[in-house]
Amino acid sequence: MLQPHLEKYLPSLIYDQIDVAIHGWEFRRKRWYHDRLGAIFAVASPDEFTIWCADPAIGTTILQNRNEFQQAPIVSSILGFLGSNVFMTNGDECHKLQFRKRHRRMFNKNLDERISGVVWTETLQQAQSMINYLMEHPGNETLEGLRSIAINVIGKAGYNWQQPWSPNKLDIPPKSATGKEAYFGMLGLVTTMILEAALLPRKVMQLPFMPLALQSMGYHLERAPGYIQEILRNEGESDSSKRHSESNFLSLMLQFSEEENSDHETKPSLTQEEISGNLFVFTSAGFETTANTMGFAVILLALYPEWQDWIQYEIHGLDISGFNWTYENTFPKCKRTLALMFETLRLYTPVAHTTRAIFNPTSLSGTDGQIYSLTPPLDIYVEQSIIHLDTAIWGDDAMDFRPSRWIDDSGDLITPDKGTFLPWSGGPRVCPGVRFSQVEFVATIATLFRNSRCAPLIVPGDRPEDPALRLKTAIANTVTKLTLSVKDPKEVQLKWTACGKAD
Ligand code: HEM
Repeated sequence: MLQPHLEKYLPSLIYDQIDVAIHGWEFRRKRWYHDRLGAIFAVASPDEFTIWCADPAIGTTILQNRNEFQQAPIVSSILGFLGSNVFMTNGDECHKLQFRKRHRRMFNKNLDERISGVVWTETLQQAQSMINYLMEHPGNETLEGLRSIAINVIGKAGYNWQQPWSPNKLDIPPKSATGKEAYFGMLGLVTTMILEAALLPRKVMQLPFMPLALQSMGYHLERAPGYIQEILRNEGESDSSKRHSESNFLSLMLQFSEEENSDHETKPSLTQEEISGNLFVFTSAGFETTANTMGFAVILLALYPEWQDWIQYEIHGLDISGFNWTYENTFPKCKRTLALMFETLRLYTPVAHTTRAIFNPTSLSGTDGQIYSLTPPLDIYVEQSIIHLDTAIWGDDAMDFRPSRWIDDSGDLITPDKGTFLPWSGGPRVCPGVRFSQVEFVATIATLFRNSRCAPLIVPGDRPEDPALRLKTAIANTVTKLTLSVKDPKEVQLKWTACGKAD
């Protein structure tokens, strides 16, 4: 919060020394610090000592070695407040390792092709409703609309909770809501106010002078264990064969738990608290990252319309009615649309760095070949967002938006060298939602741009250059909240028109 003031009032000589210790500097500074200090540097501040690594090879070593470089406690405490989950699990002591492996196995096993099919179908429907609405309503609802798609797709793929698309999705759930409706509404609030949710006592949130959304979150958080109980009771009562034919994360998690119990009688199945914790992580990790990536991609396409032509060349080669688009047949053909996602993630990396901590003395070889001893307490940041801008990897135009860099001469997607492209991180903790987010992104963009185009909105009194300038200002005003986000989504004003009719 103080950062803009410090930047404005402090002499740059002083501000440059402290900006690196202020959250989200990567987007503000890009490669500024690394170009001066090298691929790896350390920051010593009164409360901590941190290492910042933008070297692909050393970053890969850190990410691969989950026993020496563990999940940082801060991540666990923020993401663990609704129950134990895959994020929290760390360490190589036998019981911790078993616990972590079990949760991770559950994610890997369940976020599979069955879920991808559901994600694809649900996203197509949601995005079609959105584009029908936006064509009639030029203005500032595109980013909010994409968030609606993302949360509704999570609802469907996560708990079989189907919601129609609406332009302002993140409503406050009524006090009368119960079960899935209440739990899902509460998670929507939690994902937008995660720090408050993790740090403020629930009673304090409900004080009458607090904002309504916060009061509602406190009210529903207090009742969350009851909602989960009700959801599990309903799932338990539903016909087991019906449940086994369903592909949503909750039913797959319950099947996993049942199978695990019968395979190894000594192991407990997932507890209610673990189910709650993992449902929360599934929602929070999958929602904002994907929604914001779609938002940045649409803004970039509006600013650089030649890339709309480029992806439309591919989309128009598919069945143009969209009726026959299936996950199995259509998704693999959308290489340019996926290239657009990769290029957006490269320039607007949602999670700027992956945080690891060491709890025991260890060593690491530096870029100079020397072995450095590391002593706890120490946090290490692998900076994917900085690696993504390295001209030695991406060429002199590393800062430019050029989705075609991802496609080779035969039209196939290029696989970057190891450790150079890490939006989903890497190693054994790599994001298990990679495919989920790709499927959702492609289905959304292909539907939005199948029969329409978008452009910065012209408002009365504008000079010809003003609409694009406004949009450039909005995207430049990007900040790191939980993940990288446009500071004020309402500043993104777009006009959607049927293809060939853009003005
Ligand atoms: C563009 C979209 C996404 C991006 C950029 C992204 C990025 C990341 C990153 C950087 C991590 C940290 C990994 C680490 O600590 O090394 C992560 C973890 C995770 N993500 Fe994603 N994610 C995305 C979408 C999703 C989706 C759609 C889901 C699920 C529906 C999901 C579920 C998870 C989970 C459960 C973890 C924790 C994994 C673990 O600790 O083992 N993510 N993600």
